[in-house]
Order: sequence, then C-alpha cells, then structure tokens
Amino acid sequence: MAEMMWAGRFSKQVDAGVNAFNSSIAFDARMYKHDIQGSIAHATMLGDCGIISKEDSIEIIGGLKEILADIDSGALEFDPNAEDIHMFIEAELTKRLGAVGKRLHTARSRNDQVAVDLRLYLRDEIKEIIGLVRKLAETLIDMAKKHTETVMPGYTHLQRAQPVTFAHHLMAYVWMLIRDIGRLNSTAERMNECPLGCGALAGTTYKTDRMQTSELLGFEMPMQNSLDGVSDRDYCVELCSALSLIMTHLSRFSEEIILWCSWEFKFIELDDAFATGSSIMPQKKNPDITELIRGKTGRVNGDLVTLLTMLKGIPLAYNKDMQEDKEAIFDAVDNVKLCLSTFTPMIATMRVLKENMRNASAKGFINATDCADYLVKKGMPFRDAYKITGTLVAQCIEKNLTLETLPMEDYKAMTDLFTEDVYEAISLDTCVRERKSYGGPSPDAVNQQIRNAELMLECALTDSLVYDFEV
Ligand code: ARG
Repeated sequence: MAEMMWAGRFSKQVDAGVNAFNSSIAFDARMYKHDIQGSIAHATMLGDCGIISKEDSIEIIGGLKEILADIDSGALEFDPNAEDIHMFIEAELTKRLGAVGKRLHTARSRNDQVAVDLRLYLRDEIKEIIGLVRKLAETLIDMAKKHTETVMPGYTHLQRAQPVTFAHHLMAYVWMLIRDIGRLNSTAERMNECPLGCGALAGTTYKTDRMQTSELLGFEMPMQNSLDGVSDRDYCVELCSALSLIMTHLSRFSEEIILWCSWEFKFIELDDAFATGSSIMPQKKNPDITELIRGKTGRVNGDLVTLLTMLKGIPLAYNKDMQEDKEAIFDAVDNVKLCLSTFTPMIATMRVLKENMRNASAKGFINATDCADYLVKKGMPFRDAYKITGTLVAQCIEKNLTLETLPMEDYKAMTDLFTEDVYEAISLDTCVRERKSYGGPSPDAVNQQIRNAELMLECALTDSLVYDFEV
C-alpha cells in the first residue's frame, strides 16, 4: 500500500481492513469532473492572489486538465486503495508534476473540497432530472391533446364516481410534475452557494478570494459561515425529498397503470416492448416496469431517511458520518433518472382503449349527480333532488337498468319536474361537456389547462437557476 497523505503524524501503516472501510472512492469517483473543476478554480485563485506563483498555478491547471482527459479516455483508472476521489486526484497530480502538485491543497481542506464537489455534481444532476421530468410532462400533454373527448369514469374510493376524460386524468399528473420541477429548481437555487474556501472548518489565514472561486464555479455567492459551509447537507435532504415526491407521483401513476391494464379494467394496453411475460403462464403480459417503479419508491424514501438520520446527531462541523451522504443521494438520483427514462417511453407507446373506458363510464351511475342537478336546476332543493335520485338508482339496480334506460313513467312517479329532456341532461357527453368549471374535465376547460400547463412549463424552465458550466 502506498504511504498515506497524512503519514507524518503516524508511526504505522493503516490496517488494510480499516483502509477499505474508510475509503469512499468506490462511490465518490463519479465526482471526478467536479473535483477537477473545483481544483481548477482553486488553483486559479491561488495564482491570482499570489498565494502560489502564477507559473505553478498554470502548471497545476494544465496537469488537472490532463488528468481529466485521461480519466475520460480510460487511460487513467481509479486506484481502489485511494481514500477518496480527492486524494486520488491530488496524488496523481503530484505523481505527474512533482513538488508543484503538492501546492494545490494550500488554503483548502477536503472538507470544503467535498462540499463544493457534491454541490457541483448535484447541480448537474438536477438539471438532467428536470429535463427528464419535463419530457414526461410534454409526453402527457401530447397524449392529453388527443383525448379531450375520451370519456372515462372518475373514481373516489376506487368506486366509479363522476365522468371525466382521459385528458383530464393525464393532466392531473402534469400538474404534479410541474410542481416537481419547481421544487428541483428551488433546491438548485438555495444550494447555489459556494463552500470552497471554508477550509477544514475555520476558514484560512491566507488572503484568499472566495468571491472569485464562487464566481468561477457559477455560484451565486460564497457561503457566509465556514462552519456551516463544510457541514451543511440540507441540500441533499431537500433534493432527496423532491426526488421522493417525484417517485411518489410515478408510483401513484404506476398503480393506476397496473389497474388499467388488468382484464378487470382494460383501459390501456402496454406496448409489447414495455411489458414482460411469465415463465409458466403463456397468456401473461405483466406491467413489470410500473411495479418496479412502485417498489423503487420505497428505496428512494429510504435514502431520504438515511440522510435525515445521518445528519440529526452530528455536532459541527465535519464528521466522517457525512461520507454516508453520497451513496444515499446518488442512489436516489440514479433511480429517479432510471425510472423517468423508462416510464416516459412506456407511456408514449401505450394503447388507449377508449371504447372500454366509455363502456365502464356507462355503468356505475356516474351521471347520478347530474340527474340530481337536473332537478335542482328546475327549482328543487339539492338534498331533495339527491334523495329522489338515490331512490331512482336503487330502482335501476333492482330492474337491472341504467338511468339512461329507466322509463319516463318511473321518473314521473317520483316528480313531475322530470320531462323527456332528462335523458339528454344525463347523457355521458353532456355530463362531461357541462363540467366546464375552472379546472374541470370539459374539453374546453381541459384545453385551457393544457395551454396554462405549457406556459408554466416554459416559465419553470426559463427561470431555471441551474447553470451551465464548462470545465
Ligand atoms: N471522503 C470524505 C467524504 O466523503 C471526504 C472528506 C474527508 N474529510 C476528512 N476530514 N476526513 O466525506
């Protein structure tokens, strides 16, 4: 084993088991670009402030860029024995540049280094996730546009309740996704402060320029308190909670898709490329993707609990417990990306079985409220109208009829307010068309919410505070 960076204080090599236990390179190596990005900004500032010479700064930056290129190309492999990605890159730099490489770590600590790396890394991930959420929202909007007249039953308690349209149902998810984008953006905005220069915990005695590094890295400003700078992981919790909610939305949607593609509903059929078969039952076509998403939601929720629990008892400032932040937040990020990028094409390719939705709408008395409302519009108090309609529904059930097929004399027997036009008033199409209250399912109202959603999606994205940054 190579000598540890901190060997001066120690009289023995670290135990091999302890080294493996302590090491985080297996999971933090993925931040190599951001580590180098942070180091380039730091070396630039050290040179500009005269803390190291301009020549050394230029040489260090050149060396870091070469290391980046070599990792990208595969010419340089991570050393699994390195303590973490920060130590690995610094050791590699020193291997290549000799003494000059040893100057890079002046006026910084791994504590502010890891804090800045993680912010940079997650900022990029947030940007990618926003793109994936947006893609799903756009896919749903495209589909909704085709189904503003596709009547389906709306449910409460999973009992048929009142008629809606498939477009209206899809748009409900679009609004959840728009809020998800809002949460991701506001997390990105709040975390966009730079911890670099906070040092180990107490800043530094060198005359550094934290404004410069903050600006170079595309942050809004440097963090105001060095203790907070190195020990804040609120953004991991915030991001993970936003990711948990995304998973919750995908999971609720998945549950509906699982129901909809059962023979009991048959509202949709998944494309063969997005379903799986059974090893024994030849007839099966299973919605595995949606079930996995439902299952992975638990895992992302677990990541959130891991982060909250890891943080709740640690004193200021840095403690090694914090190394546990990465696997949790990376797992959440990876799984949300995986779920979104599988779910969206599955939705885009599924077949909507309109006839079955309509047939289901024709049963279950989902126009009963409209029947009561018909009487109310003729002057009857709602509670009386409600009671009469309830009696009519009971009669229909007994005679195996629907409100549409119940004869006029049965209506008349309840009240003379019923006339032939009741059949038109309770037809499914009327029931949907007339629900034109703001936010309701009528085609006009849904077209309006589609336009608003498109507008909001555009605003949410142009207001985005997730920055583009070039290394
Ligand atoms: N690998 C460490 C982490 O992820 C980096 C910071 C280590 N700092 C320290 N003082 N041991 O948290």
